[in-house]
Amino acid sequence: MSIANDSGASVSLWMRTEVPDFPTLGADEADPDVCVIGAGIAGLSVARALAAQGLDVLVLDRGPVAGGQTARTSAHLSSALDDRFYLLRKHFGVEGARVAASSHAAAINEIERTVKELTIECAFQRVPSYLFGSVKELERELPAAAEAGLLVGFVDRAPLPFGTGRALRFEHQAEFQPLEYVVAIAKDAVARGVRIRTNTHVLMVEGGERCEVQLQGGRKLSANAVVDATGFGITSRYDIPIRMAAYRSYVVAFALPHDTVPHALYDDTEQPYHYVRVAADASGRDILLVGGADHRVGQGDPDEAWASLVAWAKPRFPMVGEVVAKWSGQIGEPSDGLAYIGALPGSENVFIVTGDSGHGLTHGVIASLLLPSLIAKQPHEWEALYSLERSKVHGLGTLLHEAIASNIPFRDWISPADVSSVDEIKPGEGATIRRGLHLIAAYRDGTGACHERSARCPHLHGVVRWNSAEKTWDCPVHGSRFDGCGKVLNGPSAYDLPETTE
Ligand SMILES: Cc1cc2nc3c(=O)[nH]c(=O)nc-3n(C[C@H](O)[C@H](O)[C@H](O)COP(=O)(O)OP(=O)(O)OC[C@H]3O[C@@H](n4cnc5c(N)ncnc54)[C@H](O)[C@@H]3O)c2cc1C
Ligand code: FES
Repeated sequence: MSIANDSGASVSLWMRTEVPDFPTLGADEADPDVCVIGAGIAGLSVARALAAQGLDVLVLDRGPVAGGQTARTSAHLSSALDDRFYLLRKHFGVEGARVAASSHAAAINEIERTVKELTIECAFQRVPSYLFGSVKELERELPAAAEAGLLVGFVDRAPLPFGTGRALRFEHQAEFQPLEYVVAIAKDAVARGVRIRTNTHVLMVEGGERCEVQLQGGRKLSANAVVDATGFGITSRYDIPIRMAAYRSYVVAFALPHDTVPHALYDDTEQPYHYVRVAADASGRDILLVGGADHRVGQGDPDEAWASLVAWAKPRFPMVGEVVAKWSGQIGEPSDGLAYIGALPGSENVFIVTGDSGHGLTHGVIASLLLPSLIAKQPHEWEALYSLERSKVHGLGTLLHEAIASNIPFRDWISPADVSSVDEIKPGEGATIRRGLHLIAAYRDGTGACHERSARCPHLHGVVRWNSAEKTWDCPVHGSRFDGCGKVLNGPSAYDLPETTE
């Protein structure tokens, strides 16, 4: 058994869940029908669904099961999408907004069905959600959300211990403990014949009639189809990274006296917005999760982000006790608000699920309802909405704005480095230093040893920045992340930071 955490130093409430160890890839294992890369909620849900169709499925993950963003979520299960239905209607029309709402509702139903089928003890329950804040914004959202099929209406206030003002109440949303759920579906996938192999790093995929999957160390596998469920995607070098902005989001978990805040999902309309829910720790004690303070990767201060959440929460929830956990994680925001789930253009038989937009749990389960049809070359009514092809025409304004924002960090190549000598770097910290034309990412570990890599992101050559809270190097351009020694943690790069001699 291990504890899930492969993407940073902070530890979420769920990471204390024990995750069984799965084997690494054996030397003479057979090629599968379908290779799924990534063992988070998306990859495991898809693998289970494909196995139910009788396919031989191999899941590969470079870390443990559920060591990615699935362990860093706040676990709101929501069809009341935070991207706003009046904007989704603008991008995708009335019918598109309806499909967005109904596909997320179907994903929540699927989770509920699976919880019952496998008797998963993951505290799944149906709860309402509340949106409060700018009344103008709520009045704009209500008709669009209702038209999309949500059961929604105004209430005088959200049931919180401070004056929220009028709020929208959405029915039939849900919450759960994500790691208990994912561990259960991983075990069930194995029982259905899925081979889950951990500590197996995929470098590259080549599409074709028979796809080729290249692993770190030189080994190659082939499969009739490949599903890239690595969160940020490692199979699209340009198309997806330029359509998606990478954000960090933060959560603080407070001890909460029992039954003082009703179980529900709460969001406000601030920018960035706050998200709140009640959960329980392993001993069953009530915990208040307060999340938000989002900023673009590499462009914010984690300590300030957590402090701002504490400062927001304390006066509004005066009954909270000590902080029992705080963590951060990564979110991909597509320019038009919905995930990309479908065929990867230009790569035959390669499929991708990415662009969670803060709803990656439900988007991951939507993938398990959609991709089996697409892999079997059958049409599906959700295909057009989640296709990558759609964003050639949608969200162009946002796309341009994001392109400008993600190119600004390239200025780091000519800006001064963080320090002038590695002697200035304290144990447990990292900083960039300049040697001639080269920028070096230098990290001093807890023993005092210094590790140096090029600060050049292998994806499209952004300069990585040190994240002192997570002890990672983060690329502000498209969000690739690396540990202190340069080992890749997060796509779009599948490669480590280069050696300094390069
Ligand atoms: C703070 C925060 C709050 C959130 N709140 C919510 C919420 O309330 N509701 C919601 O629906 N969503 C929420 N999300 C988003 C949601 O948690 C994620 O989108 C979702 O968990 C992603 O699941 P996934 O399976 O796609 O990716 P992940 O869980 O990240 O899994 C990807 C896997 O791929 C593996 N991998 C990566 N690269 C490689 C490689 N090269 N080779 C092999 N394996 C590889 C990783 O090790 C990892 O295990 C939140 C996210 C954050 C950070
Ligand atoms: S992630 Fe694209 S340049 Fe670094």
